[in-house]
Amino acid sequence: MVSYKELGLVNTKEMFARAINGGYAIPAFNFNNLEQLQAIIKASSDLRSPVILQVSKGARNYANSTLLRYMAQGAVEYAKELGCKHPEIVLHLDHGDSFELCKDCVDMGFSSVMIDGSSLPYDENVALTAKVVEYAHKYDVTVEGELGVLAGVEDEVASEVSHYTKPEEVIDFTSKTGCDSLAISIGTSHGAYKFKPEQCTVDPKTGRLVPPPLAFDVLDAIMEKLPGFPIVLHGSSSVPQEYVDMINQYGGKLPNAIGIPEDQLRKAAKSAVCKINIDSDSRLAFTAAVRKTLVEKPAEFDPRKFCGPARDLMTEMYRHKIIDVLGSDNKLAQLD
Ligand code: G3H
Ligand code: 13P
Ligand code: ZN
Repeated sequence: MVSYKELGLVNTKEMFARAINGGYAIPAFNFNNLEQLQAIIKASSDLRSPVILQVSKGARNYANSTLLRYMAQGAVEYAKELGCKHPEIVLHLDHGDSFELCKDCVDMGFSSVMIDGSSLPYDENVALTAKVVEYAHKYDVTVEGELGVLAGVEDEVASEVSHYTKPEEVIDFTSKTGCDSLAISIGTSHGAYKFKPEQCTVDPKTGRLVPPPLAFDVLDAIMEKLPGFPIVLHGSSSVPQEYVDMINQYGGKLPNAIGIPEDQLRKAAKSAVCKINIDSDSRLAFTAAVRKTLVEKPAEFDPRKFCGPARDLMTEMYRHKIIDVLGSDNKLAQLD
């Protein structure tokens, strides 16, 4: 058993309370490899932003769970080396799907876990989330639960609406489970294809597709039921068209990739939404830079020569998210 406190990590409690009061959101960035982690820590340390490092079950399988945990521990030291004396870094399990997986993460030094029972019948979601909370809270580890199912692009518009979080359930769920934050469904979804073109309108100036707005009425109703309670948005990549264009220009094939417009996320960040999850945008930046470099320098075979530009582009992207979308720059409790 290793406590996250020994690793220099923090849980989400204080940073969420400050984010709600301050009208901004904490970035939750997924990482699977060294370059993503370097870019996240460089951007968040330079900008004095709290940050949540997210590890999915897939990331644990890809990179090895022990290695990822030591990388997060190393990230705390790296942030200090970059001049950030008091970093606030959370190591969070993304989309935990069982009690055993959550327990394993708590036991190995994670400071926060998500138990995603959103696909279960309501009562089973409550029971599973409560069980994880009971265990995690013994070690001061915070827990994110989820209610409502994130829409997939394969769904019909009608069924997407019916999957939104039901505001009438949120008080019962949070009080019965004791979870520290709640992921909700208001129209975001995972991946780079969040909407079908026929769900969008066309911007006459740019010719780009504009997706329908998020269901802010549902968010408002949830906030009314749970005043001051931390809300989480998954599926919040904006799928920057410049990366999609770069990927397509250099041999890729991502037709009609569409994300959540950044002004919608900015609006959400000013509310009780205090954690915004971004993964796909990092994948797009990485892929765009690697494709460009390999096409422009076909003789290159040193991975540092194409992973380096990928890291630079991801750092630029994370900086932009922190400053212009989430507003979490200069929000550490101790800025020196
Ligand atoms: O929510 C999903 C995250 O983007 C993680 O994706 O399961 O492919 O690692 P992954
Ligand atoms: P995106 O696929 O929109 O980046 O969402 C990531 C996410 O929600 C991770 O849990
Ligand atoms: Zn997610």
